[in-house]
Amino acid sequence: MPAIRLLTPEDAPMYAALRREMLVESPWAFLRSIDDDFAVVEGAIAAKLAENENDIAGAVDDGPAPRLLASAGVVRLDPCKTRHRALIWGVYVTPAARGKGLGRAVMNLAINTARTWPGVECIWLSVSDRTPAARALYESLGFATWGTEPDAIRIAGESAAEHHMHLRL
Ligand SMILES: CC(C)(COP(=O)(O)OP(=O)(O)OC[C@H]1O[C@@H](n2cnc3c(N)ncnc32)[C@H](O)[C@@H]1OP(=O)(O)O)[C@@H](O)C(=O)NCCC(=O)NCCS
Repeated sequence: MPAIRLLTPEDAPMYAALRREMLVESPWAFLRSIDDDFAVVEGAIAAKLAENENDIAGAVDDGPAPRLLASAGVVRLDPCKTRHRALIWGVYVTPAARGKGLGRAVMNLAINTARTWPGVECIWLSVSDRTPAARALYESLGFATWGTEPDAIRIAGESAAEHHMHLRL
């Protein structure tokens, strides 16, 4: 079983590789694409991983060449009027490792990390109507859909809706 843990700035190269993979492998699942993602900016991932209340839960295969198999980002919203809220983003499991509980494991660590931030009372996320497995995972963890946004993203002229979900802690 891979180690389920929060990533550190030293894990930035491993995360960069998985981030590139997810943006190419699952384009409907993420708002960003490889051309406009924060991860292409030199040093941006390590800087993010060094911040407080801005974490990435990962499943790390600690073999001779350590590799990241899954991730779930969690960040506390910065504006003072929204400090009771956290956002989960970038949930992904590499295809060969799916269906083995890693998605649930990194989500649980992301949620439990937000629970440790004093005053955080809810978590929100958005999920495409093209990724039903992800929506099922979030529902199984207690997230409820509060709205659906039609035509939220477009790729090459095709459109998809996004479900907005939240979890009260
Ligand atoms: C969604 C995703 C993260 C799930 O990861 P995973 O490791 O395969 O999921 P797990 O094995 O932990 O399964 C957890 C739950 O997810 C749901 N799920 C997983 N695969 C599913 C599938 N093929 N169909 C329906 N539900 C599924 C189930 O509710 C499952 O619980 P169960 O095993 O008790 O039935 C993974 O499929 C993925 O990376 N998909 C592409 C990227 C994506 O859609 N990201 C979401 C961005 S919002």
